Amino acid sequence: MKNDLSKILVSEQQIDEMTSSLAKKIEEDYKDSKKELVALCILKGSLVFTADLIRKINIPVSLEFMKVSSYGAGTVSSGKINIQLDMSRTDYENIDILVIEDIIDSGYTLSLLLELLKERGANSVKTCTLLNKPERRKIDLKPDYFGAVIPDEFVVGYGLDYNEKYRNLPYIGVLDPKIYT
Ligand code: PRP
Repeated sequence: MKNDLSKILVSEQQIDEMTSSLAKKIEEDYKDSKKELVALCILKGSLVFTADLIRKINIPVSLEFMKVSSYGAGTVSSGKINIQLDMSRTDYENIDILVIEDIIDSGYTLSLLLELLKERGANSVKTCTLLNKPERRKIDLKPDYFGAVIPDEFVVGYGLDYNEKYRNLPYIGVLDPKIYT
């Protein structure tokens, strides 16, 4: 798999440092909240990041999963969210939701999801992404927490895939264009 990469963009050690620093900030921000903190892992990409991040947060955290995709998004208002798997909690007024993503690209998926979770009445909704690609943003969306800003390159590994491959690489690399051209 490593031969399919043109370079390693974020090493295992850098990922470890980023997740530790994010976990510390999250812990600090939520430690005095009276509500339950729910880490909402957006499948599939953020599984690996979520697993590492929550183990570094030293306050109680519940875990939920959703699988969503966005389509028909020309503008946010015309965009639709397609929910393939929903979270199991429905007592939204009791929970602080921290949406965990591996990457924010155009921003459509996350902005539609945030709209939905707020509409459902969550006590609060914040976002945490490992990778942030602001160059590709189509709508104004800033994550509350992010690990690294990355250039507009095709990245795989640590949960991120190309045709379902490379998710199990322990670091993040740039896919060699020969693989997809
Ligand atoms: C990726 C990523 C985000 C979304 C970001 O998921 O995990 O959910 O795309 O793109 P956007 O900002 O342009 O909306 P993907 O649909 O590839 O699914 P996966 O996580 O199952 O691979």
